[in-house]
Amino acid sequence: MNSDISSRIVAVSTAINGFLEQRLQALPEHATQLKSAMQHALLGGGKRMRPLLHNITATTLGVDEQKTIPVGAAIECIHAYSLVHDDLPAMDDDNTRRGQPTCHIAFDEATAILAGDALQTLAFEILTTAEISELGAAQRLQIIGTIAQASGYLGMCGGQAIDLAATDTAIDIERLTRLHQLKTGALLTACIKSAINMADNVSQVDQSALLQYANNIGLAFQVQDDILDITESSETLGKPSGSDVQANKSTFPSLLGLTSAQQKLHKYHQQALQALAGLPYNTELLRQFADLMMQRKY
Ligand code: IPE
Ligand code: IPE
Ligand code: MG
Ligand code: MG
Ligand code: MG
Repeated sequence: MNSDISSRIVAVSTAINGFLEQRLQALPEHATQLKSAMQHALLGGGKRMRPLLHNITATTLGVDEQKTIPVGAAIECIHAYSLVHDDLPAMDDDNTRRGQPTCHIAFDEATAILAGDALQTLAFEILTTAEISELGAAQRLQIIGTIAQASGYLGMCGGQAIDLAATDTAIDIERLTRLHQLKTGALLTACIKSAINMADNVSQVDQSALLQYANNIGLAFQVQDDILDITESSETLGKPSGSDVQANKSTFPSLLGLTSAQQKLHKYHQQALQALAGLPYNTELLRQFADLMMQRKY
Protein backbone atom coordinates (compact mmCIF):
# COMPACT_ATOMS: atom_id res chain seq x y z
CA MET A 1 0.00 0.00 0.00
CA ASN A 2 1.27 3.46 -0.88
CA SER A 3 1.76 5.29 2.39
CA ASP A 4 1.69 8.82 0.97
CA ILE A 5 -1.71 10.45 1.29
CA SER A 6 -1.21 12.87 -1.63
CA SER A 7 -1.34 10.11 -4.23
CA ARG A 8 -4.40 8.66 -2.44
CA ILE A 9 -6.12 12.06 -2.58
CA VAL A 10 -5.72 12.13 -6.37
CA ALA A 11 -6.76 8.51 -6.84
CA VAL A 12 -9.88 8.78 -4.67
CA SER A 13 -10.98 12.15 -6.12
CA THR A 14 -10.59 10.84 -9.66
CA ALA A 15 -12.54 7.67 -8.90
CA ILE A 16 -15.29 9.52 -7.00
CA ASN A 17 -15.65 12.20 -9.67
CA GLY A 18 -15.83 9.57 -12.40
CA PHE A 19 -18.42 7.53 -10.48
CA LEU A 20 -20.64 10.55 -9.72
CA GLU A 21 -20.33 12.00 -13.23
CA GLN A 22 -21.47 8.74 -14.71
CA ARG A 23 -24.33 8.38 -12.25
CA LEU A 24 -25.70 11.87 -13.02
CA GLN A 25 -25.06 11.58 -16.74
CA ALA A 26 -27.24 8.47 -16.80
CA LEU A 27 -30.28 10.34 -15.43
CA PRO A 28 -32.97 10.97 -18.07
CA GLU A 29 -33.68 14.54 -19.20
CA HIS A 30 -37.26 15.04 -17.98
CA ALA A 31 -36.19 17.81 -15.55
CA THR A 32 -33.07 19.29 -17.13
CA GLN A 33 -32.79 22.28 -14.82
CA LEU A 34 -32.89 20.06 -11.72
CA LYS A 35 -30.35 17.69 -13.26
CA SER A 36 -28.04 20.64 -14.08
CA ALA A 37 -28.40 21.94 -10.51
CA MET A 38 -27.46 18.52 -9.14
CA GLN A 39 -24.43 18.44 -11.44
CA HIS A 40 -23.47 21.95 -10.36
CA ALA A 41 -23.63 20.99 -6.68
CA LEU A 42 -22.02 17.59 -6.94
CA LEU A 43 -19.41 17.93 -9.66
CA GLY A 44 -18.24 21.54 -9.32
CA GLY A 45 -15.15 20.91 -7.20
CA GLY A 46 -14.90 19.93 -3.55
CA LYS A 47 -11.97 18.37 -1.78
CA ARG A 48 -13.65 14.96 -1.48
CA MET A 49 -12.30 14.64 2.08
CA ARG A 50 -15.10 12.37 3.25
CA PRO A 51 -14.65 9.73 0.54
CA LEU A 52 -10.91 9.95 1.23
CA LEU A 53 -11.44 9.33 4.95
CA HIS A 54 -13.74 6.41 4.21
CA ASN A 55 -11.23 4.99 1.72
CA ILE A 56 -8.17 5.20 3.95
CA THR A 57 -10.04 3.79 6.94
CA ALA A 58 -11.41 0.89 4.92
CA THR A 59 -8.07 0.02 3.35
CA THR A 60 -6.36 0.35 6.73
CA LEU A 61 -8.81 -2.31 7.94
CA GLY A 62 -8.02 -4.54 4.97
CA VAL A 63 -11.09 -3.81 2.82
CA ASP A 64 -10.66 -3.94 -0.96
CA GLU A 65 -10.18 -0.39 -2.24
CA GLN A 66 -12.70 -0.80 -5.07
CA LYS A 67 -15.55 -1.27 -2.59
CA THR A 68 -15.01 2.15 -1.07
CA ILE A 69 -15.95 4.20 -4.12
CA PRO A 70 -19.76 3.74 -4.14
CA VAL A 71 -19.94 4.30 -0.37
CA GLY A 72 -17.70 7.37 -0.58
CA ALA A 73 -19.80 8.66 -3.49
CA ALA A 74 -23.00 8.23 -1.46
CA ILE A 75 -21.51 10.15 1.47
CA GLU A 76 -20.41 12.89 -0.91
CA CYS A 77 -24.02 13.18 -2.20
CA ILE A 78 -25.20 13.79 1.37
CA HIS A 79 -22.42 16.31 1.91
CA ALA A 80 -23.20 18.18 -1.35
CA TYR A 81 -26.90 18.29 -0.44
CA SER A 82 -26.06 19.67 3.00
CA LEU A 83 -24.00 22.46 1.43
CA VAL A 84 -26.73 23.43 -1.06
CA HIS A 85 -29.24 23.81 1.77
CA ASP A 86 -26.67 25.41 4.11
CA ASP A 87 -26.10 28.20 1.55
CA LEU A 88 -29.80 29.03 1.09
CA PRO A 89 -31.08 32.45 2.22
CA ALA A 90 -33.06 30.74 4.99
CA MET A 91 -29.81 29.36 6.41
CA ASP A 92 -26.37 30.97 5.84
CA ASP A 93 -27.39 33.02 2.80
CA ASP A 94 -24.08 32.65 0.96
CA ASN A 95 -23.55 33.44 -2.71
CA THR A 96 -20.39 31.54 -3.56
CA ARG A 97 -19.17 28.00 -2.95
CA ARG A 98 -16.14 26.25 -4.45
CA GLY A 99 -15.36 29.42 -6.39
CA GLN A 100 -18.71 29.41 -8.17
CA PRO A 101 -22.18 30.84 -7.58
CA THR A 102 -24.06 28.76 -5.00
CA CYS A 103 -26.82 26.53 -6.32
CA HIS A 104 -29.70 28.91 -5.56
CA ILE A 105 -27.80 31.78 -7.26
CA ALA A 106 -26.85 29.76 -10.35
CA PHE A 107 -30.42 28.44 -10.57
CA ASP A 108 -33.17 29.51 -8.12
CA GLU A 109 -34.20 28.67 -4.57
CA ALA A 110 -36.85 26.13 -5.45
CA THR A 111 -34.44 24.29 -7.76
CA ALA A 112 -31.74 24.36 -5.06
CA ILE A 113 -34.13 22.87 -2.49
CA LEU A 114 -35.08 20.12 -4.93
CA ALA A 115 -31.44 19.51 -5.93
CA GLY A 116 -30.59 19.00 -2.25
CA ASP A 117 -33.54 16.66 -1.79
CA ALA A 118 -32.65 14.66 -4.90
CA LEU A 119 -28.98 14.41 -3.93
CA GLN A 120 -29.95 13.10 -0.53
CA THR A 121 -32.07 10.32 -1.97
CA LEU A 122 -29.46 9.62 -4.67
CA ALA A 123 -27.07 8.69 -1.85
CA PHE A 124 -29.36 5.88 -0.71
CA GLU A 125 -30.16 4.84 -4.27
CA ILE A 126 -26.41 4.39 -4.83
CA LEU A 127 -26.06 2.36 -1.64
CA THR A 128 -28.88 0.03 -2.60
CA THR A 129 -28.07 -0.35 -6.31
CA ALA A 130 -24.31 0.05 -6.80
CA GLU A 131 -22.35 -3.03 -7.72
CA ILE A 132 -20.20 -3.60 -4.66
CA SER A 133 -18.82 -7.05 -5.10
CA GLU A 134 -18.81 -9.29 -2.03
CA LEU A 135 -20.78 -6.78 0.02
CA GLY A 136 -23.75 -8.70 1.34
CA ALA A 137 -27.25 -7.40 2.07
CA ALA A 138 -26.59 -7.30 5.82
CA GLN A 139 -23.53 -5.11 5.41
CA ARG A 140 -25.33 -2.82 2.99
CA LEU A 141 -28.14 -2.38 5.50
CA GLN A 142 -25.64 -1.51 8.23
CA ILE A 143 -23.97 1.08 5.99
CA ILE A 144 -27.34 2.58 5.01
CA GLY A 145 -28.26 2.84 8.70
CA THR A 146 -24.93 4.43 9.55
CA ILE A 147 -25.24 7.10 6.86
CA ALA A 148 -28.96 7.76 7.46
CA GLN A 149 -28.41 8.29 11.17
CA ALA A 150 -25.44 10.60 10.59
CA SER A 151 -27.47 12.73 8.17
CA GLY A 152 -30.69 13.30 10.11
CA TYR A 153 -31.89 14.50 13.49
CA LEU A 154 -29.18 12.55 15.34
CA GLY A 155 -26.51 14.00 13.05
CA MET A 156 -26.10 16.74 10.48
CA CYS A 157 -29.69 18.11 10.48
CA GLY A 158 -29.78 18.19 14.27
CA GLY A 159 -26.48 20.08 14.28
CA GLN A 160 -27.67 22.54 11.65
CA ALA A 161 -30.77 23.21 13.78
CA ILE A 162 -28.59 23.97 16.82
CA ASP A 163 -26.38 26.16 14.59
CA LEU A 164 -29.38 28.22 13.49
CA ALA A 165 -30.71 28.48 17.04
CA ALA A 166 -27.26 29.63 18.20
CA THR A 167 -27.09 32.47 15.68
CA ASP A 168 -27.23 35.92 17.35
CA THR A 169 -27.08 34.12 20.71
CA ALA A 170 -24.15 33.28 22.93
CA ILE A 171 -23.95 29.58 23.80
CA ASP A 172 -21.53 27.77 26.07
CA ILE A 173 -18.57 25.74 24.85
CA GLU A 174 -20.24 22.39 25.64
CA ARG A 175 -23.21 23.24 23.42
CA LEU A 176 -20.92 24.56 20.68
CA THR A 177 -18.90 21.35 20.83
CA ARG A 178 -22.11 19.32 20.52
CA LEU A 179 -23.18 21.51 17.58
CA HIS A 180 -19.89 20.79 15.78
CA GLN A 181 -20.02 17.07 16.58
CA LEU A 182 -23.45 16.87 14.98
CA LYS A 183 -23.36 19.23 12.02
CA THR A 184 -19.92 18.16 10.76
CA GLY A 185 -18.56 15.41 12.97
CA ALA A 186 -21.43 12.98 12.45
CA LEU A 187 -20.88 12.59 8.70
CA LEU A 188 -17.10 12.34 9.11
CA THR A 189 -17.69 9.71 11.77
CA ALA A 190 -19.99 7.88 9.34
CA CYS A 191 -17.05 7.68 6.90
CA ILE A 192 -15.22 5.64 9.53
CA LYS A 193 -18.22 3.69 10.85
CA SER A 194 -19.17 2.58 7.34
CA ALA A 195 -15.60 1.33 6.84
CA ILE A 196 -15.94 -0.63 10.09
CA ASN A 197 -19.29 -1.98 8.82
CA MET A 198 -17.49 -3.22 5.69
CA ALA A 199 -14.53 -4.74 7.48
CA ASP A 200 -16.77 -6.79 9.74
CA ASN A 201 -13.91 -8.08 11.93
CA VAL A 202 -12.75 -5.10 13.97
CA SER A 203 -12.59 -5.67 17.73
CA GLN A 204 -14.72 -3.55 20.08
CA VAL A 205 -11.61 -1.95 21.53
CA ASP A 206 -10.30 -1.01 18.10
CA GLN A 207 -13.74 0.30 17.07
CA SER A 208 -13.79 2.59 20.12
CA ALA A 209 -10.32 3.88 19.29
CA LEU A 210 -11.35 4.58 15.69
CA LEU A 211 -14.49 6.39 16.86
CA GLN A 212 -12.38 8.39 19.28
CA TYR A 213 -10.17 9.37 16.32
CA ALA A 214 -13.32 10.23 14.30
CA ASN A 215 -14.71 12.45 17.05
CA ASN A 216 -11.50 14.46 17.22
CA ILE A 217 -11.15 14.67 13.45
CA GLY A 218 -14.75 15.91 13.20
CA LEU A 219 -14.17 18.61 15.78
CA ALA A 220 -10.82 19.60 14.24
CA PHE A 221 -12.45 19.84 10.82
CA GLN A 222 -15.15 22.29 11.91
CA VAL A 223 -12.89 24.32 14.22
CA GLN A 224 -10.48 24.74 11.30
CA ASP A 225 -13.43 25.73 9.06
CA ASP A 226 -14.40 28.37 11.63
CA ILE A 227 -10.79 29.64 11.86
CA LEU A 228 -10.35 29.79 8.07
CA ASP A 229 -13.54 31.85 7.84
CA ILE A 230 -11.56 34.56 9.66
CA THR A 231 -7.99 34.07 8.47
CA GLU A 232 -8.37 33.34 4.74
CA SER A 233 -9.68 35.33 1.80
CA SER A 234 -12.85 34.52 -0.13
CA GLU A 235 -10.62 33.78 -3.11
CA THR A 236 -8.66 31.11 -1.21
CA LEU A 237 -11.78 29.65 0.43
CA GLY A 238 -13.93 29.65 -2.70
CA LYS A 239 -16.75 30.77 -0.38
CA PRO A 240 -17.33 34.10 1.35
CA SER A 241 -14.72 34.84 4.01
CA GLY A 242 -16.15 36.39 7.17
CA SER A 243 -19.55 34.80 6.59
CA ASP A 244 -19.78 33.58 10.21
CA VAL A 245 -18.85 36.99 11.63
CA GLN A 246 -21.34 38.73 9.39
CA ALA A 247 -24.12 36.34 10.37
CA ASN A 248 -23.13 36.49 14.07
CA LYS A 249 -22.69 32.70 14.27
CA SER A 250 -21.51 30.86 17.34
CA THR A 251 -18.07 29.51 16.43
CA PHE A 252 -14.91 28.57 18.34
CA PRO A 253 -13.13 31.82 17.42
CA SER A 254 -16.20 33.95 18.24
CA LEU A 255 -16.57 32.29 21.63
CA LEU A 256 -12.93 31.81 22.65
CA GLY A 257 -10.95 34.17 20.41
CA LEU A 258 -8.70 33.11 17.55
CA THR A 259 -5.70 32.01 19.62
CA SER A 260 -7.71 29.75 21.93
CA ALA A 261 -9.56 28.33 18.95
CA GLN A 262 -6.19 27.48 17.37
CA GLN A 263 -5.14 25.81 20.63
CA LYS A 264 -8.34 23.76 20.61
CA LEU A 265 -7.60 22.69 17.04
CA HIS A 266 -4.13 21.59 18.13
CA LYS A 267 -5.62 19.64 21.05
CA TYR A 268 -8.11 17.80 18.82
CA HIS A 269 -5.29 16.96 16.42
CA GLN A 270 -3.16 15.55 19.24
CA GLN A 271 -6.10 13.56 20.63
CA ALA A 272 -6.82 12.13 17.18
CA LEU A 273 -3.21 10.92 16.94
CA GLN A 274 -3.34 9.49 20.46
CA ALA A 275 -6.45 7.50 19.56
CA LEU A 276 -4.49 5.80 16.76
CA ALA A 277 -1.60 4.82 19.00
CA GLY A 278 -2.79 1.40 20.20
CA LEU A 279 -4.36 0.16 16.98
CA PRO A 280 -2.94 -3.06 15.50
CA TYR A 281 -2.96 -1.63 11.95
CA ASN A 282 -0.67 0.51 9.84
CA THR A 283 -2.30 3.86 10.68
CA GLU A 284 0.11 6.05 8.70
CA LEU A 285 -2.57 7.35 6.29
CA LEU A 286 -4.98 8.12 9.13
CA ARG A 287 -2.20 10.05 10.83
CA GLN A 288 -1.57 12.01 7.64
CA PHE A 289 -5.30 12.70 7.33
CA ALA A 290 -5.25 14.22 10.83
CA ASP A 291 -2.30 16.39 9.78
CA LEU A 292 -4.28 17.58 6.77
CA MET A 293 -6.91 18.96 9.15
CA MET A 294 -4.24 21.26 10.59
CA GLN A 295 -2.62 22.24 7.32
CA ARG A 296 -5.56 22.89 5.03
CA LYS A 297 -6.12 26.47 3.91
CA TYR A 298 -9.59 26.00 2.36
C1 IPE B 1 -17.47 22.42 4.15
O1 IPE B 1 -16.95 21.17 3.95
C2 IPE B 1 -18.59 22.36 5.14
C3 IPE B 1 -18.22 21.90 6.45
C4 IPE B 1 -18.75 20.86 6.99
C5 IPE B 1 -17.26 22.64 7.23
P1 IPE B 1 -15.67 20.94 3.03
O2 IPE B 1 -14.59 21.89 3.44
O3 IPE B 1 -15.34 19.49 3.02
O4 IPE B 1 -16.21 21.38 1.60
P2 IPE B 1 -15.81 20.89 0.13
O5 IPE B 1 -16.60 19.67 -0.15
O6 IPE B 1 -14.34 20.64 0.07
O7 IPE B 1 -16.23 22.04 -0.74
C1 IPE C 1 -21.88 23.69 7.53
O1 IPE C 1 -21.09 24.44 8.36
C2 IPE C 1 -21.93 22.31 7.90
C3 IPE C 1 -22.92 21.60 7.08
C4 IPE C 1 -23.57 20.64 7.60
C5 IPE C 1 -23.18 21.95 5.69
P1 IPE C 1 -20.73 25.85 7.76
O2 IPE C 1 -21.95 26.64 7.47
O3 IPE C 1 -19.67 26.45 8.60
O4 IPE C 1 -20.05 25.41 6.35
P2 IPE C 1 -19.53 26.44 5.28
O5 IPE C 1 -18.52 27.31 5.97
O6 IPE C 1 -20.71 27.20 4.77
O7 IPE C 1 -18.88 25.56 4.24
MG1 MG D 1 -23.87 26.79 8.20
MG1 MG E 1 -22.34 27.86 5.73
MG1 MG F 1 -18.04 27.57 7.86
